[in-house]
This record gives sequence, C-alpha cells and structure tokens, in this order.
Amino acid sequence: MNMAYNLLKGKKGIIFGALNEMSIAWKVAEKAHEEGAIFTLTNTPVALRLGNLNELAKKTNSVIIPADATNIKDIENVVKKSMEVLGGNIDFVLHSIGMSPNVRKGIPYDHTNYDNFLKTLDISALSFHKILQVCHELDAINEWGSVVALSYVAAQRTLFRYNDMADAKALLESIARSFGYTYGVEKKVRINTVSQSPTYTTAGSGVAGIDSLIDFTERMSPLGNASAEECANYIITLFSDLTKKVTMQNLYHDGGFSSMGMSEKAMQQYDKSFNEQK
Ligand SMILES: NC(=O)c1ccc[n+]([C@@H]2O[C@H](COP(=O)([O-])OP(=O)(O)OC[C@H]3O[C@@H](n4cnc5c(N)ncnc54)[C@H](O)[C@@H]3O)[C@@H](O)[C@H]2O)c1
Repeated sequence: MNMAYNLLKGKKGIIFGALNEMSIAWKVAEKAHEEGAIFTLTNTPVALRLGNLNELAKKTNSVIIPADATNIKDIENVVKKSMEVLGGNIDFVLHSIGMSPNVRKGIPYDHTNYDNFLKTLDISALSFHKILQVCHELDAINEWGSVVALSYVAAQRTLFRYNDMADAKALLESIARSFGYTYGVEKKVRINTVSQSPTYTTAGSGVAGIDSLIDFTERMSPLGNASAEECANYIITLFSDLTKKVTMQNLYHDGGFSSMGMSEKAMQQYDKSFNEQK
C-alpha cells in the first residue's frame, strides 16, 4: 500500500547502507522517495558488486557514490558529490552500517581478536562520528536537518552471542548524544539512533542464533517484532519536520520488547520445556 503524505517534499538526503531489498536502508530509500525526497545512495565497492543497488537507484532516480564509511576521503567525496548532484545542502542522513569480523568469523567475545574488534568499532560506530564530522566541517547539513543511525537493544542489555557488536552499538548511541549536543547548539541539527527489533537482513542473519532471538522477541513484544519496512516508516517521521525537537535520543522501535521482562507467550513456551523434562 502506498501511503504518501509528502512528508519529505523538497528534502535532500544521503543514505548509507542499502545492500539489497532486505536492507533497512533500502526500505528507507523507497519510503523517502515516495514521500518526495531526493537523495544519493552509497555503499562500499564490494557491496556494490555483491548487492543490487543499481535497481534501487533506478527506481528512486538516485545517483550511487561508492564509499567505505571508515575512510574520511571517501566520506568527503560522498558529501561533496551529493551536494553537487542534489543541488544544495543536505536535510537528512541515514547511517545504516554494521559489521563485525569477530561475528563473521565466529570468534567468541571472550576470545576476541583485537584487530577485528577495532574494525567492528570503526565500521559500526566511528563511521558515524566520521560522517558527522565531515558534514560539520563542510557545513553540509541545513538547519533542522536530521541524522539517524540504526542501533540494537544489545547496547543496554546483554543478549547472548551478540558479541562485540553490543559494544559498538553502545558507542554509536553515545556518539549520537555527544555530537547531538554540539551540532544541535551550533546548527540545530538533530541526531538520533533508532533501536530496531531483530530483522532478517544480510547483517541480521549473520548474528549467531538469530532465529531464536527473533522468536523470543516476537513472543515477548506486545506488538510483535517490527519489520524493516515499519522501521523505515518510523525513520521517515524522524527525517520530517514533525519531529523537530527530538534529538540525542535512542528511540526503541521494537514492538515494546525493551520494556518487557516476561510475557504470557514466552512463559507458555518456557513451560513446555519443563513439561518435556518431567
Ligand atoms: N537486522 C537486524 O536484526 C538489526 C537490528 C537492529 C539494528 N540493525 C542495524 O541496522 C543497520 C543496517 O543493517 P541491516 O540489518 O539493514 O543489514 P544490511 O546487511 O542490509 O546492511 C548493513 C550494511 O552495512 C554496510 N557496510 C559494511 N561495512 C561498511 C563500510 N566499511 N562502509 C560502508 N558501509 C558498510 C554493508 O554493505 C550493508 O549495506 C546496521 O547498523 C545494523 O546493525 C539491524
């Protein structure tokens, strides 16, 4: 169903992290296009080869600018080129980037490889700071512009096997607050993180035990898990002028999971395992 309200009419943006049609960033791009925004798309050269970003670019009339989000020069190029292509300053930026070599290689948290750990932090958290710092230095974002990064509840609560990504998300959320202060004072730019339910995407499927995690949070959340598309809808409101005074927040988009301790559905499932043991 197409429910466009022109919420982003005339707005210009940069969307980091669309890989394929499952990606949260992909859904955000589709919705932003429906809501009247124009934007550029960016991802790593490897992701551009592996995924099908061309399809999204065609569908949304967007230009693709390759960049490794850990590389300042690449980010500068994306931001400058985006302003050229879009014809002016930026109103919204989406950071939808995450990767842990430790998770990918199945290295447990208490046997971590520190080179990998640093890469996790650089790709999944410092890249957010780098994007913000480049935008700030180039004065690329309009007043009341909105920047959103994707987070996960593992930043607050330990979820078995989420590994060093939990630390990366804690840092990511802290950067949103720290940069949200200075950028807010100076330019009224708002910066938030959206903490999304576990979702079947390429990154999501890399998380060890994702099936159990998705089943658990589905049972625990009064509204059930939030889909990538629902997440995109929420992010559109944060890019819109309807949320101008929301900044420095970590906003849960998780069907209520983060406020739950135990639910009836989860208890029923748990009881079953006791019955089997008897
Ligand atoms: N899927 C979930 O369960 C879930 C839940 C909460 C939060 N998130 C977060 O949502 C965000 C998007 O993930 P997704 O689930 O849509 O999966 P995804 O795999 O579609 O997206 C991850 C993206 O990060 C990009 N990326 C990796 N290294 C990069 C680099 N060096 N420079 C630039 N881009 C790089 C990948 O190319 C990919 O496009 C991530 O931050 C993820 O942690 C995901």
